[in-house]
Amino acid sequence: MNVRTILKTAAPVMPVLTIDNPALAAPLADALAAGGMRVAEITLRTPGAIESIAAMRKAVPELLVGAGTVLTPEMMLAVKRAGGQFAVSPGFTEILADAAIEYQMPLLPGVVTAGEIQTAIERGYKDLKFFPAESAGGVTLLASYASVFRDICFCPTGGIKPGNMNDYLALKNVMCVGGSWVAPRKLIEAKDWQGITNLVASAQSTNCH
Ligand code: 3PG
Repeated sequence: MNVRTILKTAAPVMPVLTIDNPALAAPLADALAAGGMRVAEITLRTPGAIESIAAMRKAVPELLVGAGTVLTPEMMLAVKRAGGQFAVSPGFTEILADAAIEYQMPLLPGVVTAGEIQTAIERGYKDLKFFPAESAGGVTLLASYASVFRDICFCPTGGIKPGNMNDYLALKNVMCVGGSWVAPRKLIEAKDWQGITNLVASAQSTNCH
């Protein structure tokens, strides 16, 4: 599956999840699916992240499960072995681009600057994460890129919430936004599955072009 298809499937929101306890991954996957979520990104920022990816895939096979915060080829390989279906990295590096080819792993790399975007384009990328969206220049910067990088599709992530998501989604070069607000770490820890389902359903009901 290519990254464009993954972003289209996620639209309007790609949930960015940080899971401390892998035992909670399966019920979390159920809660996401109940709210209409079809894609999830698990950040590799906790010791149980890889185990959580495997658990979510097993619990809800129709959910597309990828990994975020993928910084090295070794992390990408671990994601692949756990059944992860895509990788997201905060920045773009040639080493990670090579690893994505070697492991046949769809990669959504992060960019901010025009130079980073050009480097990614030179490697054949058309779908990029814009990170950290709000602190890097937000909607204004992304809008500036629309006329220059006409074929590039962005998934802005970082600081996006219900209050500003529509401003991003209104841009013609934005396919979906990423964010942790749909399944906050605190609600996961509290096992508030209904609360998460409600947040997800609310986010998924947003209109997207
Ligand atoms: C992250 O860095 O965790 C992701 O970009 C999500 O950011 P957010 O918590 O601001 O949504």
